[in-house]
Amino acid sequence: MPTVTSLINLKGGVGKTTLTLSLAHFLALEHHKRVLVIDLDPQTNATVCLIPENDWKLRDETGRTLYQLFLDQLKGTPRFNADEAIVRNVSNISGGVQGLDLLPSSLQLIKIQDRLTQITDFDSYQRGPIFALRDALAAYLPYYDHVLIDCPPSLGIVTLNGLAISDSYLVPVVPDILSVLGIPPILDRVSHFAQCVRRNIRALGIVISKMRANTLLHNEMTRRLREDFVERRFPIVFETIIPESTHIAEAANVMAPINTLIQKYGAGGPYEELSALTQEYLAHVTR
Ligand SMILES: Nc1ncnc2c1ncn2[C@@H]1O[C@H](COP(=O)(O)OP(=O)(O)O)[C@@H](O)[C@H]1O
Ligand SMILES: [Mg+2]
Repeated sequence: MPTVTSLINLKGGVGKTTLTLSLAHFLALEHHKRVLVIDLDPQTNATVCLIPENDWKLRDETGRTLYQLFLDQLKGTPRFNADEAIVRNVSNISGGVQGLDLLPSSLQLIKIQDRLTQITDFDSYQRGPIFALRDALAAYLPYYDHVLIDCPPSLGIVTLNGLAISDSYLVPVVPDILSVLGIPPILDRVSHFAQCVRRNIRALGIVISKMRANTLLHNEMTRRLREDFVERRFPIVFETIIPESTHIAEAANVMAPINTLIQKYGAGGPYEELSALTQEYLAHVTR
């Protein structure tokens, strides 16, 4: 079975999607792993960074995104088919990376989220479509070495579906005050959910991203995060820190015709850090 990791934070803009995508690329290209990216965020950022927008639209219109999976839960229909929905060999590197697959999200998820919430019991998780994703992917997950789940900035029913198949989760943070304050509620709520569904979901660690090493605040918050780990308040903080870099923002363009990871993330960009982060990730998940 694959190693399944969710990237979670209740805050937006902290690098969840960016880290999901770079880990996925490095695992597939530098470590030759079979990787599935699951985009649970209705903002569809990971999706449109991995496949052209027109492809995604066509898939969305024909029931081949996660919208169909959750619509089925509301309507009692069996239309979603994971085999058809999974897009194989995605990314703009060399016209597609062998072994890097995507389960695309949909903007339409926004309009059914409230209805999904209404049928869910968030105290005990005894009621609601918590295991829709698990059931739909059961036959396909064993094919992969790694599954990375890009979560929306919430712990609603869609995110819980991701957690319900996760072995662990990563918390990307920007080292500023509000980001750090946001960590304890995530740890508490994931641990409550894990207990309710009797699944061991490990807090793999905190990944600092968009670091501005020349600012006092970022350095101070980084030091505090590491201290919180030593005092056992927080999970481990990954050694590798991802700097703020305009190159990362540009790497999101799926239409740029490139051939290597170095072209995507290098040339003055954070290639080294992302490569190191992936190695650290592998060391942690295989521990
Ligand atoms: N290390 C980084 N350096 C510069 N920009 C970054 C970095 N990481 C993310 N970004 C940019 O910041 C914005 C938010 O990042 P994103 O990964 O989408 O966060 P989230 O998924 O947590 O909302 C995006 O525009 C992204 O391109
Ligand atoms: Mg995102």
